[in-house]
Amino acid sequence: MSLLTWNHASSVGVRALDDQHGILMDTTNELRLTLLHGGGREQVCEILDRLIEFTRMHFQSEEKLMEDTDFPGLIEHRAEHHRMLATMLQSAHCLQHSATMPTRAMLCALRDGYIEHIEGLDQEYGPWLNREVIY
Ligand SMILES: [Fe+2]
Ligand SMILES: [Fe+2]
Repeated sequence: MSLLTWNHASSVGVRALDDQHGILMDTTNELRLTLLHGGGREQVCEILDRLIEFTRMHFQSEEKLMEDTDFPGLIEHRAEHHRMLATMLQSAHCLQHSATMPTRAMLCALRDGYIEHIEGLDQEYGPWLNREVIY
């Protein structure tokens, strides 16, 4: 499984949100490397909790900007954020309560979910926010 790397397709055209996406990618990579190097459950849980908290904050930042500018895709976007967070919380719950460590499949789903969201739905608000002079 490859690490997440920043590329032009990842940019949404708003600096603060691009920076937050970079932190999300770095933290996802940290989780992957920790598992690869045999990190313990406590360490993996700590990183996943941090990733969830940062994701929550990031989603709030995006939704606030979309709300402030009356972005027409807000409802659909917010619903997708809720779905992603619920999946992450479920993964964290499994990690804390199951006997086995997270699988490669769980990490792949997490990584693919971020890529798909950042390079998909997140691209839609960029031009709208730019028109509102938000860069
Ligand atoms: Fe995002
Ligand atoms: Fe988003």
